[in-house]
Amino acid sequence: MALINENYLKLKAGYLFPEIGRRVKEFTDANPDKKVIRMGIGDVTQPLTPTVLKAFHAGVEEMGKAETFRGYGPEQGYDFLREAIAKNAYQASGIDISADDIIVSDGSKCDTGNIQEIFGADNKIAICDPVYPVYSDTTVMSGKTGECAANGYYSGIIYMPCTDANGFIPELPTERPDLIFLCYPNNPTGTVAGKEELAKWVKYAKDNKSIILFDAAYESFITEAGIPRSIYEIEGAKEVAIEFRSFSKTAGFTGTRCAFTVIPEELKAYDSEGNAHSVKKLWLRRHTTKFNGVSYPVQKAAAAVYTEEGQKEVNEVVAYYMENARIMRESLSAAGYQVFGGVNAPYIWVKTKGGMKSWDFFDKVLNEANVVGTPGSGFGPAGEGYFRFSAFADRANVVDAMERVKNLS
Ligand code: MLT
Repeated sequence: MALINENYLKLKAGYLFPEIGRRVKEFTDANPDKKVIRMGIGDVTQPLTPTVLKAFHAGVEEMGKAETFRGYGPEQGYDFLREAIAKNAYQASGIDISADDIIVSDGSKCDTGNIQEIFGADNKIAICDPVYPVYSDTTVMSGKTGECAANGYYSGIIYMPCTDANGFIPELPTERPDLIFLCYPNNPTGTVAGKEELAKWVKYAKDNKSIILFDAAYESFITEAGIPRSIYEIEGAKEVAIEFRSFSKTAGFTGTRCAFTVIPEELKAYDSEGNAHSVKKLWLRRHTTKFNGVSYPVQKAAAAVYTEEGQKEVNEVVAYYMENARIMRESLSAAGYQVFGGVNAPYIWVKTKGGMKSWDFFDKVLNEANVVGTPGSGFGPAGEGYFRFSAFADRANVVDAMERVKNLS
């Protein structure tokens, strides 16, 4: 008899975004004449830029000629891409990360979920509330939790509320976690953490032999000076942090798939006898066993992001989305909503009016304005009463959607 992984039975509902997709489909099937504007899932709308596309094509052409054809590549990524990442994303800003520390993959969603596999089932995980649901759901799948209580919290997870009152930066937990998920710029609240805040976490992790799993997928959307783009800007972070970064939002790769995880050699975790082990070595062992590498043309395209022209182009696309975010912030504030985020991140976090529940607001916005957003409660209990709009839309749709939301009854 085949037995299932019963941890999956503990999961409360379907994954958030398919659930939104289901409700939207129901609405569009019943209302085929309505033009629905989608600002729910943070999926990009602008195409790959010319320089990236040219490199992508060139990579495909190489695959069509015997002299340049390539089969399996190195699982952790081609050296040309790992070196380009280390040089441009880190060394150029004075951060001492080498190509050896970079492990290329097909997405940060996969990496932040899969990373749990190399850590023991007895680890205590701390997550923010609200949170990108991948961190919590994969913690449940990996058997590190008990059941979900009526209040929406799984036993065994340390929840760190992020609210207006604490500026959406979690307090240090009273119970000691072994692994700490942090995401800045933050999904879903669109807020950022400064150097001092991150330094506090790095110190805490050092003092407690914990590891910070730092999701920096949105670093390219930082517009204000002085906000850290990498956890490794903080002294000592190489000993306590893994960083996840992605080409998805930065360069339009949500459909193309390319990301990377950074694990410095200094980062150690322990066996039950207290012996230290290289975390990078374990992750490479997993990666090389279960993954066969991102395709060569995609890695060529990703490397082109770091050329002078590539940088100029992707920065323009990021600026386009951030102008959307500015329009959204201003329109929603003018419509009387309390608005957070959207200055250094492509997400706008809005407090619903009159204490309306997140899913009720979702239905109202969908039915009356034909606009799709993401209910804050889908990111965790502390997200109740909030709503997230994504700025990854076409400008005309952003303007139209904001006008419709403004006119809601
Ligand atoms: C989101 O909308 O939160 C993200 O697009 C989801 C993701 O990156 O997987």
